Amino acid sequence: MRQVLASFDNCPDPRLRELVAALVRHLHEFAVEESVTEAEWLAAIRFLTDVGHITTDRRQEFILLSDTLGLSMLVDLIHHGSGSGATESTVLGPFYVEGSPWRSNGDAITDDLGAQPLLVSGHVRDTAGLPLPGATVDVWQNATNRLYAVQDGAQTPENLRGRFRTDADGAFAFRTVRPVDYPIPDDGPVGRMLHATGRHPWRPAHIHFIISAEGYVPVTTHVFDSESPYLDSDAVFGVKQSLVRKLVAHDPAADSAPAGIQGSWHTVDIDIVLQLEAPALPS
Ligand code: BEZ
Ligand code: FE
Repeated sequence: MRQVLASFDNCPDPRLRELVAALVRHLHEFAVEESVTEAEWLAAIRFLTDVGHITTDRRQEFILLSDTLGLSMLVDLIHHGSGSGATESTVLGPFYVEGSPWRSNGDAITDDLGAQPLLVSGHVRDTAGLPLPGATVDVWQNATNRLYAVQDGAQTPENLRGRFRTDADGAFAFRTVRPVDYPIPDDGPVGRMLHATGRHPWRPAHIHFIISAEGYVPVTTHVFDSESPYLDSDAVFGVKQSLVRKLVAHDPAADSAPAGIQGSWHTVDIDIVLQLEAPALPS
């Protein structure tokens, strides 16, 4: 191993030198510790080759591999640990599409609220509790057939996604459908890995959010449905307790129905807290 490490001694970028040296050290230690056989090594090479072959502009199997091995959440935890008072972050996932339509507070993000309408409301605040007017709330979620619009030719491309701007009180609101549990794409090598290791591909029902405001650190996060049976076994380890919310049930017999809602519905109210960006150091 010494010789391999020494081969990077002239690397002009010190951070790159440190990273490749540590990677080599850990890979070599892993092979020695496990007495990896030639057949196992070749199987790993074939697996990574398959991960590359299935990856396209629309399907990122390497990110899925990182997610299912818990590496994506580990990197997230290293850089966005709790303690600042800001809303905790979680995985972005592969179904985010930039440039969602701007919508007005109170709008629906889908043309069909179906049998399980959900009213989402909330405020964006700073860590001192002051409202942040003009913050951007970018949301996306899956449909009741479990698919995101980007995966499903039967949905309009803008279905179940949208961008909102908080009002003078830092408030935002939208109408949607209750998200459902769904399996991550498991018809490729990552799915084979999950199957071979006795794991399931399911994620607990959630809505994705990216919240940003001028001068504040943006946060990429989810709100999870507290009734999902997969909260303790998320295939990508993205659940943080602080992101789980009870969706409150309402019945037209007891509550007056909001405009456009027939039958029963759910509501959820969420507070998002953003942390001030660190001031730039003088150059
Ligand atoms: C998602 O929540 O959209 C997701 C995250 C990681 C892997 C697959 C899907
Ligand atoms: Fe998702």
